[in-house]
Amino acid sequence: EICRRENNRLTPEKLSGSDSLSQSVGLVPTMGALHAGHLSLIERARQENETVIVSIFVNPLQFGPNEDYQSYPRTLERDRQLCEQVGVDVLFAPTPKEMGIASTLLTQVVPPAEMTSVLCGRSRPGHFQGVATIVTKLLNVVQPDRAYFGQKDGQQLAIIRRLVKDLNIPVEIIGCPIVRELSGLAMSSRNQYLTPEQRQEAAILYRALQQAQQAFAAGEHLSEALIETVKKEITAASAVTLEYVELVHPITLMPLEKVEESGMLAIAARVGTARLIDNVILQNR
Ligand code: PAJ
Repeated sequence: EICRRENNRLTPEKLSGSDSLSQSVGLVPTMGALHAGHLSLIERARQENETVIVSIFVNPLQFGPNEDYQSYPRTLERDRQLCEQVGVDVLFAPTPKEMGIASTLLTQVVPPAEMTSVLCGRSRPGHFQGVATIVTKLLNVVQPDRAYFGQKDGQQLAIIRRLVKDLNIPVEIIGCPIVRELSGLAMSSRNQYLTPEQRQEAAILYRALQQAQQAFAAGEHLSEALIETVKKEITAASAVTLEYVELVHPITLMPLEKVEESGMLAIAARVGTARLIDNVILQNR
């Protein structure tokens, strides 16, 4: 029997050893501070599986030395309540020690350089190795039939699809659409770093992507022009510092000169202390 109480917390050993998970299991890996984006993944998992497991683990391996590991929002009690409300069966919230990453000796999973040298990989060396390593460990511990990831982190989703394929991990990866606030701002745990004014200003990211989407619908398929459309929009907003705008293939992450079948137009920018990302898929019909 799986125990959800804090004083008898679930460890990787107990989870692997449990035989109460014989029916289909859906896993939603998160770092907590749950919001409507996470909940959409959980709801999808709820629809498709008998047992839904949510993991909450702020993974030190995926944070750079100057990133927000220490200050990353941790709201476990509130997250636990939310999970209970939406019918999560098991909340798995291990410590770094329990996840076996407290030692300096650690085998890591290295995604293909081609997939980590673009987009967020440029400014976050080691980040996707940290993600790939922890996701592999979570999949091995939980052994779910399906695992749910958001298109919000489009590069992460592509890398995880590739990882599961290349390492023959027996799980189905389900990608879920981006959940947005009314303003269009993609929901993120890091939006908590924004002041109310910055939150307003951050909505420009999606508006800029939509401009490019319209240009694409009107027949503009050349990357340079689509990227320029986004850049022009963003540079007009002084509170937003652009990190990148790139157009890549959504599965291989190869940079595209023009969109043949589909492309992922992705952006990263700083607003105040928050680093925000967003993307849209451009699809030729
Ligand atoms: P985290 O940022 O907590 O996100 C957990 C999952 O929720 C990811 O798959 C992410 O893409 C998805 N998600 C976040 N915001 C979303 C939104 N607005 N709409 C749809 N989905 C959204 O991503 C991670 O954690 C970590 O890297 C993790 C995969 C857990 C590995 O540590």
